[in-house]
Amino acid sequence: MRMLLIANWKMHYGPIKAGGWIRAFRRERLPKNIDIAVAVPHVSLAAARASLGRASIPALAAQDVFWGEDGPYTGEISASMLDEFGVQYCLVGHSERRSVMGETDDMVAKKAAALQKAGIVPVICVGETSAQYKKGETNKIIRQQTTAAIAKLDVDSKTPFVFAYEPVWSIGSGKACPAQKAKEVHDVIRGVIQKKMNENIAEKVLILYGGSIDVNNIAEYLTTTGINGALVGGASLDPRVFGLLCRTAMPS
Ligand code: PGA
Repeated sequence: MRMLLIANWKMHYGPIKAGGWIRAFRRERLPKNIDIAVAVPHVSLAAARASLGRASIPALAAQDVFWGEDGPYTGEISASMLDEFGVQYCLVGHSERRSVMGETDDMVAKKAAALQKAGIVPVICVGETSAQYKKGETNKIIRQQTTAAIAKLDVDSKTPFVFAYEPVWSIGSGKACPAQKAKEVHDVIRGVIQKKMNENIAEKVLILYGGSIDVNNIAEYLTTTGINGALVGGASLDPRVFGLLCRTAMPS
């Protein structure tokens, strides 16, 4: 199974800086045995694509999508619009969208299904809050979010989906969830997929870890069985740091 590393810029870098990041990152020596993607703000997709040209490394990812097709949805962006930029992955249900924009499990499920239909790999983010973690509710919350998110996916689709386990308390906090603990949660996600979909999909699904990943801890996660890559926020903002992180993750 090839590992996947996704840079998540969040709300950083408009078109001018996005092009510069891509060009600088392309100058980095990158491992060939790993997949790398960069999730950029919608307004920067065109600049990122222009800087990439026909190059496919890093793959282009979006940070959000709306589930409808063309129509009266002012301000929204459809999966087929993302497809026009050659977007291969799109995050859905990031905790910042769930908590700041009020995104519900049902909305996440609709977004994931719309992406899959358009041939774009949804990267479904799940994770418990600090309060839920302290109450020992992690597995319950993860089971709920995972069950809801896959409810509208097509088991026969050729487009796979990816999960990212991101404990809310570890995002941007410098407190990464210990790799063994993350692995246990990954097993919960895989278990739900096996039960609600099938064994084959559960075996193949990539489950990433996200939350305070940096150059110093990445290797520990990627050498833990059941963790298939990482979603990286802060440590992806500098293209040289993210390049180093990719090399550290998977020396070629
Ligand atoms: P972080 O963010 O790496 O800055 O903790 C990860 C994320 O929110 O995807």
